[in-house]
Parts: sequence; structure tokens; C-alpha cells
Amino acid sequence: MKIAVLKETAPYERRVAAVPETIAKLVKSGAEVIVESGAGKESFIEDQDFEAVGARIEPGTKAALAGADIVIKVNKPTDAEIDSMKSGAVFMGFMSAFTSPDTVKRLAEKNITSLAMEMVPRITRAQRMDALSTMSTIAGYKAVLIAATACGRFMPMLTTAVGTVPPAKAIVIGVGVAGLQAIATARRIGAVVTAFDTRPAAGEQAKSLGADFVAMDVDHSHAEDAGGYAREQSADFYKQEQELIRKYSKDADIIITTALIPGKPAPVLITEEMVKEMKPGSVIVDLAVEQGGNCPISEAGKQVIKHRVILVGQLNLPSTLPVHASLLYAKNILAFLNLILPDGKTLKVDPADDIIKGSMITHDGQITHPALKK
Ligand code: NAI
Repeated sequence: MKIAVLKETAPYERRVAAVPETIAKLVKSGAEVIVESGAGKESFIEDQDFEAVGARIEPGTKAALAGADIVIKVNKPTDAEIDSMKSGAVFMGFMSAFTSPDTVKRLAEKNITSLAMEMVPRITRAQRMDALSTMSTIAGYKAVLIAATACGRFMPMLTTAVGTVPPAKAIVIGVGVAGLQAIATARRIGAVVTAFDTRPAAGEQAKSLGADFVAMDVDHSHAEDAGGYAREQSADFYKQEQELIRKYSKDADIIITTALIPGKPAPVLITEEMVKEMKPGSVIVDLAVEQGGNCPISEAGKQVIKHRVILVGQLNLPSTLPVHASLLYAKNILAFLNLILPDGKTLKVDPADDIIKGSMITHDGQITHPALKK
């Protein structure tokens, strides 16, 4: 069984889909692992580190892909990569499947079985494969560090000879995976944290990390769906929520927004008017910027100053922590490989398995995911 690890080509991408620790396990189970030369460089892993655990290094993409049964990457495959894959191979990576119709079509036409890491269902059995959660944990952590660096104020309380500086006030909106890590990180560096979420269940988790939780008047059955994800609320509800947040945002030093409803644009929770009322030099990190943003004046991929407030819309935060992002992602990939390659030698991609069903985009020359078939 040949497994190819490709070098990422997307701009500013520093992660890699396999690390020596995971490759050693694959080699031990009997797989042949081929790594494209330089694939680990941005994560500080040299070719010889991969070779030391039994991988073979190939100088280019084409050579790495020759005869590969499974291809692993962080990002979706390029057209040239798809063209160099053999018919019947399996591809695994973040596929951006809903926004990449041409890639999906090309994979189906080439008869590649593609498994999208962003579609792995958030169920207990799939926890070890849940790369979205892994990356959101990193994003929540980095969001706070970026906010603290950009903010012109101390985060912890400090007593000096000329007086006491009070601790920074942080607001975290959305207490999911990224939000919880943002709360924990902001608390660790000494900020006082207030958290908001529409799901009442999030309150206990926020409080257990030392944040105050501002509950909203939404009944449990309407707050979340059967999978535990937030439901979309009415325009009136969001207006009321903005008013509630406004009481705190006026006084905040940093705000991290992570509010997300799967498959929908991000709800607007910090309006431009609210930004105008914030303290000069305060910071908003809008993690939902790719879904339209929780703040409509944040800009994807940029750090801008508007109304004397610093607005951070940085994309791909996990890539800014490449060593751990690669290690954890590689472990998510390894867990998934263990599912489809139980004995290390025979491929077993069972479309009836819940995890495969949820994440399979193309198979047998067809687009298989129901949400993408249309
Ligand atoms: P998640 O689904 O675990 O959490 C989202 C939370 O938002 C949920 O707890 C939900 O109840 C809450 N929420 C929904 N509507 C709300 C509202 N009106 N008010 C308050 N809370 C509300 O999602 P996760 O994994 O934590 O991701 C959060 C965001 O971070 C997403 O937009 C994701 O795309 C983004 N992200 C950005 C990265 C970057 O590099 N910029 C990297 C990773 C994630």
C-alpha cells in the first residue's frame, strides 16, 4: 500500500499532513510512505527526518504520486495533482468541497475516492479524526495571542509604583471549540472574560474555565439542533443580542468572535455602530470572517483600523502554529487511515460507515455526497 504525502502549494500554508511520528506507525503497519521533498520544511521537518523513520523521498509532485494508492494533504488537490493521481486512488485532506465544484468534478471524473476532513462528523467515534476541532482549538488560542499583541494595553492586572493597572476585559462570542480555547487562553494571560452563546449548555463550560457567561433568552429546543449545533435565530433575536453585547463591548479591550451556524453566513453580532462606541486601541479578532464575519466591517485576510479599533480578519491561523498544527493534523489523518486501512495493507472504504458517509465527496466515478450532488 503506497501512501503519498504531498507538499502544500497554497500561499502562506505551513502545515504538512504527516510527521515522523505518524509515518513511523504507518511504516510499521506495512505501508510504503513516499514524501514529496520539502513537504515538512515549513513545519521545521527536514527530508532526512522523514527518511529516518522509513519514508522514501521523491523530488517532485509527479514522482511522489506515481502509483500512490492513498494521497494525503492539508488542502484540496490542485488540478495538476489530480491529473497525476492514478484512477481508483483515495485522497484525504481539507477539500473546501462546497466552494470547489470544479475540483470535486475533476476528482469524480478521474475516479478518485475523496474524503474531506472538514466533513468528518462530530460524533464520539470520530473524535480522533476531527481535524476541524483540532484547527479551531489552535485558532482560538492564536486569536487571543494576536489580540493581546495588537492591543496597546496589558492583559493581567499589574501593580506598579505609579498605580495599579486593572486586568484587561475580554469578550468571547461563541463558546464552541475555538471559543472555549479563547476563554482558556485569555484567562491564562490574566484577562477578565465574559462569554456569550445562544446554547444554554455552553454556559457551564464557559464558567468552568473561569469566564462569566451572559445567558440569552432562548429555549433549549430552539437553541440547538439534534447534533448539538446552534440553530439560526430570527433577525429580532440578533438585534436583541447586539443590544446585550453592546453593554459589554463599550468597555472591552479585546473581543474574539467565533459565532457560527453550520452552513449559514455568520450572524452579525458587532455592528459598525457598536465598533464606533468601543475604546480607542481595543481589538476585535473576527474568526468567522470567512463566513461573512460576526462584525461586518472586519476584512478577510487583513488587519485594519476603523474608528480607532483594530479589526483582525486573519485567515488560516492554524498555519501560524505550524509545528503543533502539523502534528495534530497528522494524528487526525492517521486515525482516519486506521479506519480505512485496518491492517495497514488492505483498503476498506465502507460507504455505509457513518464517518465515511459523512466525509466522502466522490467515489466510483460519481459525486457521492448528498449535499453536493445537486
Ligand atoms: P463551533 O460550531 O464549535 O462553535 C461556534 C459557536 O458559536 C457555537 O457554540 C454556537 O452555539 C455559537 N453561536 C452560534 N450563533 C451564536 C450567536 N448568535 N451568539 C453567540 N454564539 C453563537 O465552531 P468552531 O469550530 O469553534 O469555529 C468557530 C469559528 O472559527 C468558525 O467561523 C470557523 O470557521 C472559524 N475558524 C477560523 C479559523 C481561522 O484561521 N480564521 C480557523 C478555525 C476556525
